[in-house]
Amino acid sequence: MQENREQWSSKTSFILAAAGSAVGLGNIWKFPYIAGENGGAAFLFIYLICIILIGLPILNIEILLGRTTKKNPVGAFVALSDSTFWKYVGVLGVFASFTILSFYSVVGGWSIAYTYEALIGTFNTTAFDNPSAAGKFFDLKNSSAAWVLGYHTLFLSLVVIILLSGVRAGLEKASKFLMPVLIFILLILVVQGLILPDANKGVSFLFQPDWSKINGQTILLALGHAFFTLSLGMGAMMTYGSYLSDKDDVVNASYLVAFLDTIIAIFAGLAIFTVVFSSGYDPTAGPGLVFHVLPPLLSDLVGGYIFAFLFFLLLSIAAITSGISILEVSVAYLVDEKNVPRKKAVLIMASLVYLAAIPCALSFNILSESTFDFQGKPFTFFDIADYLASNVLLPLGGLFLAIFAGYFWGIDDVIKNLLVGESNSIYFGNSIAKSKNFKSIFGFTVKYICPFLIFLVFLYSIGWI
Ligand code: PHE
Repeated sequence: MQENREQWSSKTSFILAAAGSAVGLGNIWKFPYIAGENGGAAFLFIYLICIILIGLPILNIEILLGRTTKKNPVGAFVALSDSTFWKYVGVLGVFASFTILSFYSVVGGWSIAYTYEALIGTFNTTAFDNPSAAGKFFDLKNSSAAWVLGYHTLFLSLVVIILLSGVRAGLEKASKFLMPVLIFILLILVVQGLILPDANKGVSFLFQPDWSKINGQTILLALGHAFFTLSLGMGAMMTYGSYLSDKDDVVNASYLVAFLDTIIAIFAGLAIFTVVFSSGYDPTAGPGLVFHVLPPLLSDLVGGYIFAFLFFLLLSIAAITSGISILEVSVAYLVDEKNVPRKKAVLIMASLVYLAAIPCALSFNILSESTFDFQGKPFTFFDIADYLASNVLLPLGGLFLAIFAGYFWGIDDVIKNLLVGESNSIYFGNSIAKSKNFKSIFGFTVKYICPFLIFLVFLYSIGWI
């Protein structure tokens, strides 16, 4: 273990930072549109099952691997196993962090751009009269490579500024300030959504299942999204866990992070679908839901100027606190494994991500015709990065983590390590890991349920079943 490795100043700081990583574009941009396209409540139900059965155990394992080894994903596997195979599983995580950030940074850039447009009042102009006009505005802006690249640069620069200050002064301070602001804004938006006429239609869309919409594809999406939304399968939670002290409990922290992440996704769904249904629009607008449909609808409301601004500010904050955790994985890798000083590591990795993101940013203009056929649909670089991350790399990382914990590290050792720090649990009063059946349920889930389900879904996602 490194002598001078930074640590979170408290358990609450870790919870906020980990929740900041989990709560991101996945909750506010992605969850509402995939739920919208896949039957609303029916999707929510399957997604919750994936979170409980697969997300939670993997979240525990990731944080624990980090806390136990005090290392980045590559170093963590090397510390616990002699085989180079596991080292490459860690490397896969570093690769996933590049892939995710390359499209994440583009959407993060859009969020900042729309916060600015909301601020200067563009949403109240004719360009945002209705969702189809707003869609044209979005396409027009994206047809300029300079516009997309410019906002991507701004987003990544904000991430870099926070990372340069280190764990406590950067990651921790940003999450401690930004997460309460995020929750506050979200609550305002939920309340204003719920008091709109016909808000109940939005609520029942999210809570009354339409089972006919569920098929193999839905389950794949739900599982991939469970990984994405909890920041699992690429070592982000492992890296954040590596800044925990052994005194801090893992199990209860995991439950709290998963709970916060889920409740925030549901609240974002409520805030969005109440507005969409109250204006008589279609919830199945896809990735454009937030950028096409919402701005004109929000700005038509009484006080719409401020609500639209708050919404995009919320989206930008969520993207930044997640963006920092994605890049931190590769930064920690350079710092731990290659002894590169932190600031230099941040600049090197950010420059590489910057380059990797260029094809994604150009997918909406110069490279929009460069597509690849996949499952009968044309995929741009942006689509590939998104699909590859959520449906291949993260579930694959999760599969390896479950196999590692269940069969190589061993459930007995995992539980022994999980119990370290458990007596210091301040959340929920009682420690969950000490409860009677925890070991058998946890062991069974990690050894059998997680690998089996993830494997099935993985085969489906690469088109083999
Ligand atoms: N959890 C983040 C979100 O929901 C995305 C993310 C994925 C962050 C993987 C870190 C690692 O937007």
